[in-house]
Amino acid sequence: MDTTVYQPFATPTSARRTETVRARALSKVYGNGAAAVRAVDAVDVTFTAGAFTAIMGPSGSGKSTLMHLLAGLDTATSGQAFLGDTEITSLGDRELTQLRRDRIGFVFQSFNLLPMFTAEQNIMLPLELAGSRPDTDALAWKDLLVSTLALGDRLQHRPSELSGGQQQRVAIARALIARPDVVFADEPTGNLDSRSGAEVLSFLRRSVRELGRTIIMVTHDPAAAAYADRVVLIADGRIAGDIADPTPESVLAGLDALRSLELASGPHASATTSATAVRD
Ligand SMILES: Nc1ncnc2c1ncn2[C@@H]1O[C@H](COP(=O)(O)OP(=O)(O)OP(=O)(O)O)[C@@H](O)[C@H]1O
Ligand SMILES: [Mg+2]
Repeated sequence: MDTTVYQPFATPTSARRTETVRARALSKVYGNGAAAVRAVDAVDVTFTAGAFTAIMGPSGSGKSTLMHLLAGLDTATSGQAFLGDTEITSLGDRELTQLRRDRIGFVFQSFNLLPMFTAEQNIMLPLELAGSRPDTDALAWKDLLVSTLALGDRLQHRPSELSGGQQQRVAIARALIARPDVVFADEPTGNLDSRSGAEVLSFLRRSVRELGRTIIMVTHDPAAAAYADRVVLIADGRIAGDIADPTPESVLAGLDALRSLELASGPHASATTSATAVRD
């Protein structure tokens, strides 16, 4: 079915760099008093360097909040987040901006494309901000992103002239253009048809396998999660399970176990029990 001609990624500047992403007792509380929402609740998790991890869990369970904390886009209430040896939670604004620019790519749930720029300008923005003039290598990488994501004929259009799926693909190209160590993707295939979705997921998986990138992706789709090396389940702001080498079936079983535990013991089911129950 997939007619894409295989092109190897490897280029001289894409040497393997691996960074582990870690959270230690990481918490985020929104609001205070009776209205406080514990969106991320004392999370301890390590995302292996050079691996593709999917995060799954019910709507409102804290997936986006956790990713924002790990990417330095939101400030934690307590606890620590690390990228490699760098403690993100202790950085000032300036260092954070630099870290996000040089080492992190982010695909937002809501795209966040700049409306006044064309698709191509949006894609190239991270390189522009880094002040680096794209060399032959960077341009070849851009061409590969554009062709894999089938954006060739939409490059001169503004986001308002693109479909949801096209905007999402522009956002993915933008996240990958500077070849960041870590890519956080919040439902990157949520707006894509199954064929484009599969192409994007294969592409993400290849960038892990062949370029040694670390990818952390939120998804609601067990078939998408099965592209990952591992699935981390989140419920109620806590880690609730861990599935190695996921298949659509094992992911569905994990989600079912999570659901029945929540039904059995209410929304505050013990995270430890859940983890044991859904472990493959
Ligand atoms: N800025 C905010 N102010 C107050 N509460 C917030 C804010 N952002 C998120 N929340 C709350 O934190 C909790 C976690 O939200 P989050 O967006 O992380 O969930 P999610 O797992 O990504 O859900 P979805 O699958 O629907 O995207 C929710 O209860 C949400 O209402
Ligand atoms: Mg979300």
